Amino acid sequence: MPEHETHSLDVLIIGAGGAGLRAAVESSAAGARTAIVTKSLLGKAHTVMAEGGVAAALGNVWPEDNWKVHFRDTMRGGKMLNNWRMAQLHAQEAPDRVLELEEWGAVFDRTADGRILQRDFGGHRYARLAHVGDRTGLELLRTCQQRAVSLGIEVYMECKIVRLLQDSSGAVNGAVGFWRESGTFVVFAAKSVVIAAGGVGKTWKFTSNSWEGTGDGHALALWAGADMLDMECVQFHPTGMVWPPSARGILVTEGVRGDGGVLRNSTGERFMFNYIPDFYAKETADSIEEADQWYENKTDFRRPPELLPRDEVARSINSEVKAGRGSPHGGVFLDIASRRSAEYIRRRLPSMYHQFKELADVDITVEPMEIGPTCHYIMGGIRVDADTTATTVPGLYAAGEAAGGMHGANRLGGNSLSDLLVFGRRAGQHAAEHALGRTGDATVDPAQVGSVTDHALAPFSREGENPYAVHHSLQETMQSLVGIIRTESELVEARDALDELDARAASTSVEGHRQFNPGWHLSLDLESMLAVARCTTLGAIERKESRGGHTRDDYPGPSAELGKVNMVTRMRDGAVSVSREPLPEMPDELKTLFEEAH
Ligand code: FUM
Repeated sequence: MPEHETHSLDVLIIGAGGAGLRAAVESSAAGARTAIVTKSLLGKAHTVMAEGGVAAALGNVWPEDNWKVHFRDTMRGGKMLNNWRMAQLHAQEAPDRVLELEEWGAVFDRTADGRILQRDFGGHRYARLAHVGDRTGLELLRTCQQRAVSLGIEVYMECKIVRLLQDSSGAVNGAVGFWRESGTFVVFAAKSVVIAAGGVGKTWKFTSNSWEGTGDGHALALWAGADMLDMECVQFHPTGMVWPPSARGILVTEGVRGDGGVLRNSTGERFMFNYIPDFYAKETADSIEEADQWYENKTDFRRPPELLPRDEVARSINSEVKAGRGSPHGGVFLDIASRRSAEYIRRRLPSMYHQFKELADVDITVEPMEIGPTCHYIMGGIRVDADTTATTVPGLYAAGEAAGGMHGANRLGGNSLSDLLVFGRRAGQHAAEHALGRTGDATVDPAQVGSVTDHALAPFSREGENPYAVHHSLQETMQSLVGIIRTESELVEARDALDELDARAASTSVEGHRQFNPGWHLSLDLESMLAVARCTTLGAIERKESRGGHTRDDYPGPSAELGKVNMVTRMRDGAVSVSREPLPEMPDELKTLFEEAH
């Protein structure tokens, strides 16, 4: 076994985004020896890409808003595949989590009378997103980071976790990783582990995720035997940059549409009026006049179709482009310049203004933006108990994007930030409780550590392909065969391609030494992305219907039968399989909320 250092903890949190930081604050406050480990730097997480706001029924702009409406919007947005209990806890607790952030120093935009201002977003009936211009995720991250640092929580940065460790009963008792800078190994012995490692976007070619989004948390849990839920449900955010190529995929906040921006095709038509689904017909304006009236006074229930949930908007853009009515670089136009003053745009959307000016030489106060769908978020994830966030593996907890169930088949914008606050807190609380209930320090098995380090070092001693080539093939495969619109034959082709890619990845070789070697890091990240890709592809084959972010061209509608099941993927003896398992039954008092809606 190579030389390594060891840290002994009560609670190890993997991931330093909003969920990990919030979990750490709670765990530490409960008296548990807590540390965060991140393969990136503190303050650098996909949380910042939730730009437009955090959804919480504070009722500051619309007093009619309350948790029940938020719950209902979330379930309907998720096409009823959500874990109802998670959606309920989320809607009930989100306002307190936002107010707590404010107490910790977050500076939100304000109403005229000084309360937290809330903006409109797709699928939310009322203006519900507390925001800080278009930099809300950044403010949330900074605030939680400041809190964690002030509590003295240890943060281990630039450390890649390779595998979780488990005792003979299967309970998690730590993790093995290495410092990216030196390449030396580190063992964390911990009584509880929280996975808060975010998303998987780098598995696809066009994504809003940066290099960290390689599904490490999902894969670590899968390899440890945890159940994964509905991994086929991947969110393609409707508005990513499409031009220039170097900026392709970078997020354009939904706040642009929330603040009045509209979508047009190459003929100038506001095409979203042609794509209003029956499911949302009663509450969606069907003429430009009605939609614009809503923007003016917002008293009308029928909202503009540009504010339909993301799955609907992304599919519509895809159809326009396919029909030959796209923009010059393969997207459509997002126009706020003709609808709002330059002063308003710069004040409300400062990052978007700078992003387009710097990266595309486009002034969004005078010209439309060219945008198209970008892989942004995975709704599927590690199966957790709604109240405790415990996974199916003892000692292992999960929160934030890594956890599944909360968002069903499609997440509403703004619900990710509230999700990570609500369930990050719960994860920290329950992981600490679990750890503090066990006596003595966690002890790890040196032989297990040795086999992980041997595995991690293998790319240095074998002859094979460059990991970048395999990553490129994986992204091409997932983008073209497991993208926004899917078919059986393409999914089966993808599954076969993944067999080949697994074999190629298993023989990748890297040159040089262990000190900051990005090729080596990628060879290990590839294992995570391939694990995620397999779960997504198997789930997508099995879900023979269209629901939320999962659209099957060969099964264009939802299936009543499949709407009642989760697709559960799990790994046993090295093989991943998928099975259908019934969704938890919603209690009658919550069911009535859906009857009241119509
Ligand atoms: O469009 C956005 O600002 C993203 C928000 C989110 O993903 O929640």
